[in-house]
Amino acid sequence: MKIWLYLSISIISFFALNTAQAAGDAEAGKAKAASCAACHGVDGNSINPEWPKLAGQHEGYIVKQLYYFGDGERDNSTMKGMVANLSEQDSQDIAAYYASQTPTIGAADPELVEFGERIYRAGNPQSGVAPCMGCHGPKGAGNPAANYPALRGQHAKYIENQMHGFASGNRVNENAKKMMQILASRMTNREIRAVSSYIQGLH
Ligand code: HEC
Ligand code: HEC
Repeated sequence: MKIWLYLSISIISFFALNTAQAAGDAEAGKAKAASCAACHGVDGNSINPEWPKLAGQHEGYIVKQLYYFGDGERDNSTMKGMVANLSEQDSQDIAAYYASQTPTIGAADPELVEFGERIYRAGNPQSGVAPCMGCHGPKGAGNPAANYPALRGQHAKYIENQMHGFASGNRVNENAKKMMQILASRMTNREIRAVSSYIQGLH
């Protein structure tokens, strides 16, 4: 029994480690990210709340999103243009650079923080909304091995836009189809606003 448990844990850790291992070169990525800085900020902390912060986001998740923008699975005309000339290596290097940066943390709206925290930590059992914490982590750090993105400190406006995108089916892909789309479509506007505000201050 014990041997099997030990073996499975070793195998799981081996794969987790491998997935999390950096494939990109952050130093090279810094130069390649020059054309992204106007919107996402030099260090990946954007100013405009409609443009996501990329600082501290997981490398694998960023690479995946760039790929989705390119093949149109995630439909956004600005980003489609931006990835058109990126090679796979470029994407990996840029992703490694942003992953190595530190996200700035905003503040939650005091009026919404309590309700937002409840949704984040406990979900809404009545309507079948799973706790965000279960996948995105108690502090919003996400889970790189499972490709669950970090959310901490992200602009509330951007989060809100994505939640509505998932709910309406505008943002569709792979995992999101099953997890985020179903979940977001069960949420009220007030729940989305509150949890987005809470995430902006989460760290
Ligand atoms: C003109 C502004 C602009 C520029 C320049 C730009 N982006 Fe974006 N980016 C956006 C917007 C807006 C979104 C949100 C799209 C959406 O709502 O789906 C976005 C989304 C992203 C996302 C998804 C983030 C997430 O959390 O899912 C990544 C990754 C990204 N951009 C990387 C890049 C890279 C790499 C470059 C440079 C090669 C770049 N962007 C250049 C505006 C820009
Ligand atoms: C069962 C796991 C799971 C749960 C629970 C979950 N998420 Fe997610 N979430 C994901 C996955 C997987 C993705 C990545 C989807 C993709 O690749 O586009 C994601 C993506 C997101 C994104 C897009 C991030 C970005 O940078 O664009 C937001 C916002 C988000 N989730 C918010 C939430 C909120 C708010 C809750 C709770 C109400 C929640 N999630 C609960 C798995 C989950």
